[in-house]
Amino acid sequence: MVPKDFVESLACWARVRLVAKEGRHRDSCCFNSICNAGCGAGRLHCCFLFPSPPRNNPCPGSVAPMDLICTEMRSFSYSFSICNYNYYSVKDLVGYEIFIDPMPEWGIDRLPGDFLEIGAFIGGGTAKLARAAEKWGKLVFAVDIFEPSTDLTANQAGFTMAGIYAGILSGRDQEELFYRNTQGLDNIRMLKIDSRELRFPEEQKFAFVFIDGNHDPDVVWNDIRLAWPAIVSGGILGFHDYEGDLPQTTKAINEFLEAYDHEIARLERFPKRWVLLVFKK
Ligand SMILES: C[S@@+](CC[C@H](N)C(=O)[O-])C[C@H]1O[C@@H](n2cnc3c(N)ncnc32)[C@H](O)[C@@H]1O
Repeated sequence: MVPKDFVESLACWARVRLVAKEGRHRDSCCFNSICNAGCGAGRLHCCFLFPSPPRNNPCPGSVAPMDLICTEMRSFSYSFSICNYNYYSVKDLVGYEIFIDPMPEWGIDRLPGDFLEIGAFIGGGTAKLARAAEKWGKLVFAVDIFEPSTDLTANQAGFTMAGIYAGILSGRDQEELFYRNTQGLDNIRMLKIDSRELRFPEEQKFAFVFIDGNHDPDVVWNDIRLAWPAIVSGGILGFHDYEGDLPQTTKAINEFLEAYDHEIARLERFPKRWVLLVFKK
């Protein structure tokens, strides 16, 4: 299902017609950076048929009538730029609702400890976490290096994470977007730092941690070692990119599952979103 606001964002192009839905892969060639990052990556693609360019924007040299526009959809994030318009709708790359909504059912709201997010990108997920955490009297520590060019981990299609971020950002400033998307949420503590340099005082505990920072296995392990001891009993360590298109990241997570098996109560998986939640005993 294509999110409603995306379609609405195209409202000015009244004759836009949806020709393919999420889940249908298209390898059609695209002409902007977003699509180049996405096409052929084996990800979800969404293709739109533009019968004609918008009347008030002649799109010099770019879009011919009936061109197919291919938009990368990595989970529920989608964006593209065309005719000098940037369309960017969803502001987190995972769809945090899948683990925020069931938190009361899992008792996370009643546990001691705050929330920690390693890899905040443009803050859409941070904001969602913060709105929930606010109700439960918790803080959200959001960690991001705010240098989108640093993660050179390549996915199975050969695209680096840095390249994918650059495509999504399309020249916009990541940090600025983060603050725009999280404004008014006073329980966020933004830590602009390389997670490898991060230390928390021993008394800082977490009920929930989500690791989605640098996908290099060594950094994933760094983030696990940082987070796991600080998670309270019954708390959750979540990962993005588990069994997705980054096998090296999955391998590191599997090594963790094996090494810490005796401290793990159970696992919860959301395969379509590449999310794994690890419940601590
Ligand atoms: C996949 S994005 C996070 C997406 C976010 N979880 C969401 O769903 O919207 C990964 C983020 O990690 C950040 N990052 C990369 N290496 C990092 C590091 N060593 N320390 C902290 N953040 C890092 C990047 O700047 C990027 O914003």
